[in-house]
Amino acid sequence: MTTARAAAVAATHFGISGVAFELPGEVDTNFRIRSGDDSYVLRISPESTTASLLAARQFAMTRLAAASVRFQFPHSPPGGEAIVALPEGGSATMVTWIDGAPYADARRPVELAADIGLLAGTVVRVLEGFHHPALDRESHWNLAAAPTVLRELGPHVSNPADRALIDDILDRLIVQVPKLQQLPKQVIHGDINDLNVLVADGEVVGLIDFGDMNHSWRIAELAIAAAYTILDQDDPIGVAADVVAGYAQIAAVSAVEAELIYDLIRARLAVSACVSASRAGQGNPHHMVSETEVWELLERLDYVDSIAAAGELAAAAGKPRPDRTHSIGERRDTVLGGALSLTYRASDSGPLHIVRGEGVYLYDDMGRRYLDCVNNVAHIGHGHLDVVEAATEQMVLLNTNTRYLHDTVISYAERLLAKLPDGFEVVYLVNSGSEANELALRMARAATGRRAMAVLDHGYHGNTSAMIDLSPYKFNGPGGGGQPDWVTVLPLSDPYRAGDVGGDGYRETVSQLLGEGEPVAGLLAESIVGCGGQVIPDSAGMRMIYGEVRERGGVCIADEVQTGFGRIGSHFWSFQLHGLEPDIVTMGKPIGNGHPLGAVATTRAVAEAFANGMEYFNTFGGNPVSAAVGLAVLDAIEEEELQENAGKVGDYLLSELRASMMRHQAIGDVRGSGLFLGIELVEDRATKAPNAELTAAVVNHAKEHGVLLSIDGPHHNVIKIKPPITFSMENADKLVAAVDAALAVS
Ligand SMILES: Cc1ncc(COP(=O)(O)O)c(C=O)c1O
Repeated sequence: MTTARAAAVAATHFGISGVAFELPGEVDTNFRIRSGDDSYVLRISPESTTASLLAARQFAMTRLAAASVRFQFPHSPPGGEAIVALPEGGSATMVTWIDGAPYADARRPVELAADIGLLAGTVVRVLEGFHHPALDRESHWNLAAAPTVLRELGPHVSNPADRALIDDILDRLIVQVPKLQQLPKQVIHGDINDLNVLVADGEVVGLIDFGDMNHSWRIAELAIAAAYTILDQDDPIGVAADVVAGYAQIAAVSAVEAELIYDLIRARLAVSACVSASRAGQGNPHHMVSETEVWELLERLDYVDSIAAAGELAAAAGKPRPDRTHSIGERRDTVLGGALSLTYRASDSGPLHIVRGEGVYLYDDMGRRYLDCVNNVAHIGHGHLDVVEAATEQMVLLNTNTRYLHDTVISYAERLLAKLPDGFEVVYLVNSGSEANELALRMARAATGRRAMAVLDHGYHGNTSAMIDLSPYKFNGPGGGGQPDWVTVLPLSDPYRAGDVGGDGYRETVSQLLGEGEPVAGLLAESIVGCGGQVIPDSAGMRMIYGEVRERGGVCIADEVQTGFGRIGSHFWSFQLHGLEPDIVTMGKPIGNGHPLGAVATTRAVAEAFANGMEYFNTFGGNPVSAAVGLAVLDAIEEEELQENAGKVGDYLLSELRASMMRHQAIGDVRGSGLFLGIELVEDRATKAPNAELTAAVVNHAKEHGVLLSIDGPHHNVIKIKPPITFSMENADKLVAAVDAALAVS
């Protein structure tokens, strides 16, 4: 129908003269009729929509509009027909207009979730007892038909993984049939989705489109409303619980209904996905509404602990949760050693049960999405498919130790060396950062014939016996045995806390310490000290230390386990930041994007001193699967220009965080390079007294708002930021907003 004809129908049959504008619609053709300051909706329904069905709709709408301003009134001229059969076929009806934007277009404000539930509950309450035979009709959208719809339309989903997901949901429904049969039925709106809920001025102002009204399960009204409200939310189950709680304020929820809400939410999403798949290519955008968000959510819910989620929703409806005998936390405490720690203790906001990672996000067992600003191991993003593919292909083909010739292993060693400055000619592949440092220590000792070592204060270098001895962070920390006699600890030239870090006084101290004990085989040091609190030591001070160690015949080991592989943006390695020239470089964490891999690169001279006749055998180190993974990581860093990204996003983050220092006196310092940053929190900028309590509060608050951060530094007052280096500007904005909000309330 043309807009001109629609305007004519409105004027002739409904007494409303105005201008017509077409609106989106699935079955009906809808027009907004603007008449002066007033507006109406003219609906043109096809012949398949019987007059009897239209009458039932009109009746229900009248009843609802009488109960609440959030519903449209059917409009008919005095003495005129409410349902007009048109000469060209089909019929016309008219309702009043509600001003507002669809929830989906209004950025899905999470705080309206409970009110959407209340809206669904209102419909159910008002329509209770209403019945009309025309509403007993068959429709894909009647949730009571979901098992049939999924069986019939599931085959349209072509991707096997997606199809399996739909089949799982169908299987679950079939198992629940005895309970589904007990569900109370009544007439419901049947399509309280994110396009039909209208929002204005931060409030839910209306519910439109009664075209899918039918006789169905009463609880389907709630399940459908919840399914669309939780699309694209960080905490889908939490938001669904709000919808349920809002609904339960006004409508009754039986025990069986409460138990089934979660399954029915998933069923509705699955129906929506299958209907879209079955209509793909038909060109009606209304059919594909929210399709991407629906699949994203279905995938996310696939990893959700469904018993816990169902329990959460039942509890929101005021019904008991199903009992669980042993929680995963209790089982962990029973079988895993007490020396292992959990981030976010029960005394804070509780530990996380993470079940999936993708890109910069982690997802927990309730489908909550967290921005991961901590994981410097998933360097190029969680679950990077190139890495997964490289590992899988090589694993299928062959995995052995290094005692055979293998092209991938050699190619990888060559590629790694090409990333290092001239002079690095030999690589040993190992399985972790600790192992890399352990091997570097043996090399330093072999090259010098000495035993003692120097390290920087607050450093951490690994979990083996020797590495604990070389980690002041550990031997001076809880449970530590103090500084071993063969270790010299050099003070950290921290520009924020240590004052004159590059001057003569510092040189004298270093020189004196190195001269005091046994001559050292070498120095093991990071170039940005992570566990020390993301401290970038003074460059001149670092060059001086390297010089002093060398002058005394020692070798210099750069620990790049945290900082290597482009993370710091300006350089591929952090020793380059200071213009250092190490003899040995150790690598770990990011090198395999989560696959256990480490490496030691060194000069030919050091390598020859180490190859003294004793074989270096490492069962797993240098296996072809690890080498294939390492190659895939290097490829991705180059192809996706991730070092450049770390530089760009890191600079932006630094400037934004420095700007937030203007708003928060508690931020004493913001520092770092690329995507290796630290925020130091203090009680007072003048005294720099550390504020560990506030730091913990900020990190816990950020977690509650979907952002994961960690804490380090000798005073536990430095927030560490070291996300996957695929981190985007948008991610940076979210991080800054979370820190800002946390500081504002903490
Ligand atoms: C600087 C540094 N070196 C070495 C290691 C030890 O690496 P891994 O835990 O892989 O053994 C770590 C681990 O946190 C580290 O931060």
